[in-house]
Amino acid sequence: MQSCVSSARAAAVLLVLSPLLSGQQRSNSGAEIANGRELFSVHCQPCHGPDGDLVPGVSMRRAEFKRVSTDDEIVRLILSGVPGTGMPPTNLPEASRVAIVAYIRSLHDASARAAGPGDAARGRELFEAKGGCLGCHRVAGKGSRKGPDLSDIGSTRNAAALERSILDPAETVLPQQRYVRAVTKDGKTITGMRLNEDTHNVLLIDENERLVALAKSDLREYTLLKTSPMPSYQGKLSSQEVADLVTYLLSLKGLP
Ligand code: HEC
Ligand code: HEC
Repeated sequence: MQSCVSSARAAAVLLVLSPLLSGQQRSNSGAEIANGRELFSVHCQPCHGPDGDLVPGVSMRRAEFKRVSTDDEIVRLILSGVPGTGMPPTNLPEASRVAIVAYIRSLHDASARAAGPGDAARGRELFEAKGGCLGCHRVAGKGSRKGPDLSDIGSTRNAAALERSILDPAETVLPQQRYVRAVTKDGKTITGMRLNEDTHNVLLIDENERLVALAKSDLREYTLLKTSPMPSYQGKLSSQEVADLVTYLLSLKGLP
C-alpha cells in the first residue's frame, strides 16, 4: 500500500518534470523543489532528518558529504546507495531523484545565504516599512491579523522554509492557513484565512480582521482558495534584503 502511494506520487512528479528534463535543462523551480521536499520527507527524512543533518558526517544544509560533490553524483548515489553502510539504495525514477537533489540544494543555498551577511535590524526595518509585511502579519502585538502571527516563527521554521515563504508563497501555504471564500445564502461574500473547520462550521478571520463563524448550512458556496494572498517577493527584494528578512524572522522566538 505504502509503495503504491509513493509510486503514484513519483509518477505525478515525473509528468510535471518531463518537459523540463527533455530540454536538458535543470531549472530549480518552486514546484520542483516542493516535489523534492515531499519525496525527501518520505524517502530520506526518516534517517537524515528534516534539515538533512542527522547522519553524522553528512549535512545537506552545509553541503557536507563524504564521497559525492556534484548534483549528478547525488542523483546516482540515491539509486545505488552506499554499499556496506546504512545508506540504502532508493529505486526512484531519475526525475524524482533530480527533484530531491533540487530540494537538498535549496536547503544549502538558503542556509548559506542566511548564515551570510543577513542583518536582523535591517530586516526588521524592511518588515515594518518598505516590505509592508505588517500590513498582513503581526509581531509581538503590532500589525495586522490578516495573515499568520509571526511572533515566534523563528522557533518553528528554519532559514530555508522562511526564504521559500517569502519568494514562493503559493508553494508553501499550510493547510491551517488556507484562504477560503464563502458566499452566504443571502448573497454576502466573505474571504478570509481559515482558522478552524469541522463538518458543520467554519471559523475564519476576514479581511477586516474580524473573527467570523459561519454555519455551512447557511452557505451557498464555500471554496478553498488555492493561491496564497501573500505576494511573492521574488524579484522585488534583493537577495541581501531577503537574507536580512530571514535573519530577522529567525530571531523571533516569542515571549520568554
Ligand atoms: C536507512 C537510513 C537512510 C535512508 C533512508 C537514506 N539515507 Fe542517506 N545516508 C545514510 C547513512 C547512514 C549515510 C552515511 C553513509 C556512510 O557511512 O558513508 C548516508 C549518506 C548519504 C549521503 C552522503 C554520501 C557521501 O558519502 O558522500 C547522501 C548525499 C545521502 N545519504 C542522501 C540520501 C537521500 C537523498 C536519501 C533519500 C532518497 C537517503 N540518503 C536516504 C542513511 C540513510
Ligand atoms: C497581503 C498580505 C500579506 C503580505 C503583504 C505579506 N504576507 Fe506573509 N503571509 C500572508 C498569508 C495569508 C500567509 C499564510 C498563507 C501562506 O503561507 O501563504 C503568509 C505566510 C507567511 C509566512 C509563513 C508562515 C508560516 O507559518 O510558515 C512567512 C514567513 C511570511 N508570510 C512572511 C512575510 C514577510 C517577510 C512579508 C513582507 C516582506 C510578508 N509575509 C508579507 C499574507 C501576507
